Amino acid sequence: MTLPTYPVETTAPPTAPATAPAAARAQLLNQGSVAQYRQAIAAGVDRVARRVADVDRPGTGVTPAELAPLVDRVDLDRPLGDAGAALDELEDVYLRDAVWFHHPRYLAHLNCPVVIPALLGEAVLSAVNSSLDTWDQSAGATLIERRLIDWTAQRIGLGPDADGVFTSGGSQSNLQALLLAREEACAETLAPAARAELLPRLRVLTSAAGHFSVQKSAKLLGLSPDAVIAVPTDAGRRIRPAAVREEIARCRQAGLVVMAVVGTAGTTDFGSIDPLAELAGICAAAGVWLHVDAAYGCGLLVSPTRRHLLDGIERADSVTVDYHKSFFQPVSSSALLVRDRRMLRHATYHADYLNPARMVEQRIPNQVDKSLQTTRRFDALKLWLTLRVMGPDALGALFDEVVDRAADAWRLVSEDPRFEVVTRSQLSTVVFRYLPTGPGRDLADAANLHAREALAASGLAVVAGTRVDGRHFLKFTLLNPATTVDDVGHVLDLIATHAGRYVHDHATADLTCSVG
Ligand SMILES: Cc1ncc(COP(=O)(O)O)c(C=O)c1O
Repeated sequence: MTLPTYPVETTAPPTAPATAPAAARAQLLNQGSVAQYRQAIAAGVDRVARRVADVDRPGTGVTPAELAPLVDRVDLDRPLGDAGAALDELEDVYLRDAVWFHHPRYLAHLNCPVVIPALLGEAVLSAVNSSLDTWDQSAGATLIERRLIDWTAQRIGLGPDADGVFTSGGSQSNLQALLLAREEACAETLAPAARAELLPRLRVLTSAAGHFSVQKSAKLLGLSPDAVIAVPTDAGRRIRPAAVREEIARCRQAGLVVMAVVGTAGTTDFGSIDPLAELAGICAAAGVWLHVDAAYGCGLLVSPTRRHLLDGIERADSVTVDYHKSFFQPVSSSALLVRDRRMLRHATYHADYLNPARMVEQRIPNQVDKSLQTTRRFDALKLWLTLRVMGPDALGALFDEVVDRAADAWRLVSEDPRFEVVTRSQLSTVVFRYLPTGPGRDLADAANLHAREALAASGLAVVAGTRVDGRHFLKFTLLNPATTVDDVGHVLDLIATHAGRYVHDHATADLTCSVG
């Protein structure tokens, strides 16, 4: 075969090869710039350390409208030239108004304060910049990740054939789990037409309190819009096993195929843990894939006192763990584990330029063969250094402490006549609302919404919000062992003040209007 010829451009070659200015070259981390590297990183650490030491509230309540002009004003085409000046600027556009999860009155989402060994890992991993797709970009990093996957699988009890891979977060772990489940449901031998016919009939059962990444995953996986069936929960917001059984039977009668049941070990709002052993029994009997989303509850894997709450998880086909929620790791740090390592083949593709199939025969460990990502951070290093410095028991003790603190907080709220609390969490959330008495009762939704916003605007505390049975509620998520019962009490008082004032102003206004 002859290759086609194309006309060759005849412009004159440059007289000398282009050379980047010395200042640009000096910014590359290499043998010649280690002094500058040390200095720049130390300066950055120093800024953050000063902020961490000084902040007296979790946020400043800055609004997007206030901050956006400062960010917009930065001319990205005119560099400042040195790290110190850039850090000064960063104070204005980021550090001063950042939301600080280490502050004891940050009580909103599933963000944890981070442990120092993990920060050390973060600094090392980004400087070395290994990429975990192939051995030739990672070497020891691949082995460290593999050890941590084995360690986690052992903690879960998944057995000798288990495997897994680090991911960017719980959403990605759930997506990959459901991809594997879908591929198992669509046997590989299925003809394209039969597969196309089956896809819209696939269903995923999960609790009404499950995470929305299950719905997103279903969409990404090309399932039908009604593929995810929200199974009712009991009073403790745990999935009802009988309802799961009934739903599987109903689906089958209707010609639908349940490709997975997703149990949640730590629902985002209620910290409830589905009855995992019962789910495992149901799934085994029905031949359905069981995925356990333990993004939040995975901290129990190292808990010295509460590991039993996860009993049954060892029978799952796949498990999501988010070390960046309950292992005190910085974002990102998550993993997907599977009981049978062969399942990971559904995420395997071979490319001549990266991971040719012959490498499998050569037993070259290329993690990309198991991952949805290609270039991938060495997030595992953070957990590695954490375990090497602190050990699992210390991490588990920290998580235990926040679970204990949440129980104290629940007691405080449930004994306080100003509030109504939903259910007692098995982990570390408290869902509650300010409940006005008398004619102001109709204002409960608006008053709670207002209290959350007013609190955030003051920066004095940050709490989350959610809806329960159609009503607006507030939520504490405790992940900081430094949060005291006094902190919780103080925040409750602030909420009651904001909400009470709202009710007072609006009930009076309503009354004035109706009288007028
Ligand atoms: C139960 C549960 N699963 C999955 C996720 C998603 O995790 P990520 O935010 O790391 O993607 C969350 C996040 O809060 C969660 O609470």
